[in-house]
Amino acid sequence: MTVGKTTSGNSTSWLCDVQIRWMIRRDMPEVLEIEHKSFEYAWSEEDFLNCLRQRNCIGMVAEHSERIVGYMVYELLKDQLHILNFATAPWARRQGVGTRLMDKLVGKLAMQRRQEITFEVRETNLPAQLFFKSRGCHAVEVLRGHYADTDEDAYQMAYSPFGADTISLDRAKKNRLADWDDDRAAA
Ligand SMILES: CC(C)(COP(=O)(O)OP(=O)(O)OC[C@H]1O[C@@H](n2cnc3c(N)ncnc32)[C@H](O)[C@@H]1OP(=O)(O)O)[C@@H](O)C(=O)NCCC(=O)NCCS
Repeated sequence: MTVGKTTSGNSTSWLCDVQIRWMIRRDMPEVLEIEHKSFEYAWSEEDFLNCLRQRNCIGMVAEHSERIVGYMVYELLKDQLHILNFATAPWARRQGVGTRLMDKLVGKLAMQRRQEITFEVRETNLPAQLFFKSRGCHAVEVLRGHYADTDEDAYQMAYSPFGADTISLDRAKKNRLADWDDDRAAA
């Protein structure tokens, strides 16, 4: 099996062979292996199954030569798609797999219905921030102490092909600077 970019340095031919499909129970061992290699505070099998049992939660995998190379779990909210989990197998990174998953999600947005994709990224997870930034996402808010495990802050990030107007004003104005202004006003 060809793994990684082709000798020409062009990953296109490899990517042509990547299929995005629904996650099924049988994928779980491979998904969990990627999950544990990708996150210090990884989801357990039970976390995945509890999540995917919800009617509005969807899991998708990226598959290459019958091997899982990436996955995402997201929920369908009233006016947005919210990513809950997203990873590419370490050995398959920087080949466009994450981009293929994001493209799939972006293809599900619609002007009249769900107009944006939202998710949280740990403040220390610079690679993910750079990845999502490269896909046109931007940070809209800092969520202080968002993660129960480390009390780490998160960046709430968003993507909308329909323009910044679709991002709720309530969320956009509540950031570190807004807090700083509030603190100064209270002083
Ligand atoms: C973030 C992640 C999903 C990216 O997946 P990927 O398949 O490697 O992404 P792609 O190959 O589609 O990358 C597209 C572009 O994003 C940017 N990018 C991706 N990873 C990057 C990194 N580590 N550093 C800097 N830029 C990066 C680059 O611009 C890249 O294009 P290039 O390779 O031509 O330079 C992957 O690194 C990962 O699984 N990380 C661990 C899990 C994680 O943090 N998930 C996100 C939780 S919010």
